[in-house]
Amino acid sequence: MKLTLKIWRQKNAQDKGGIVDYPIDGIEPDMSFLEMLDVLNEQLINKGEEPVAFDHDCREGICGMCSLFINGEAHGPDRGVTTCQLHMRMFKDGDTIFIEPFRAKAFPVIKDLVVDRSSFDRIQHAGGFISVNTSGNTIDANTIPINKHDADKSFDAAACIGCGACVATCKNSSAMLFVAAKVSQYALLPQGQIEAVDRVLNMVHQMDHEGFGNCTNTGACEVECPKGISLENIARMNREYLSASLKG
Ligand code: SF4
Ligand code: FES
Repeated sequence: MKLTLKIWRQKNAQDKGGIVDYPIDGIEPDMSFLEMLDVLNEQLINKGEEPVAFDHDCREGICGMCSLFINGEAHGPDRGVTTCQLHMRMFKDGDTIFIEPFRAKAFPVIKDLVVDRSSFDRIQHAGGFISVNTSGNTIDANTIPINKHDADKSFDAAACIGCGACVATCKNSSAMLFVAAKVSQYALLPQGQIEAVDRVLNMVHQMDHEGFGNCTNTGACEVECPKGISLENIARMNREYLSASLKG
């Protein structure tokens, strides 16, 4: 395949940045999108040029590191996959492909296609955990009976990999789907009840503090989420928040 790549290049956080054209040839349909970028970077390095910086780690759809906006869509044109799972067979010979970083005030660009998503880490630190007694008398989680429906819903919420596609897709740069997944994951389990009130209040407070926008129920986040996180989690978080606010 012969392609024209239009890639966002930005030297650092202060640089204005801009789109640069890169023609590329010999791309196989079975290559992943990141392998295609590896080929480009090899060519750039051989020419003595600066390779394109982009985030990646597991390349298996697990870690949530890969974060590209491809032809105007977070993680590109396929559904239910991350950028590392996107294959070049989704494109045609002769295509022009725009590749940009995830854009949001709370995800500042570090370099080229790499953005700083540590705001998600700080939201997690604010309440995305449970406290467990580890002094030797810890109860095995499997000994606590949990309604099957709740366990399944919690597991679905826990599938969130923190990639940030929901934020990049949302016209308000809202992080509600991410935070709602993390809140729901614990809200549905007995182990999550002890800190439930503090968790939702603190995580939502941190989300607002980081500069994410609000949710206006457009639903684009759910469509672009590679893990199929449902909007029903946002409804659950809103209920948890209201109830916690009244108790607080
Ligand atoms: S909710 Fe979906 S899109 Fe948002 S961070 Fe989690 S996995 Fe990524
Ligand atoms: S590199 Fe880990 S999810 Fe894509």
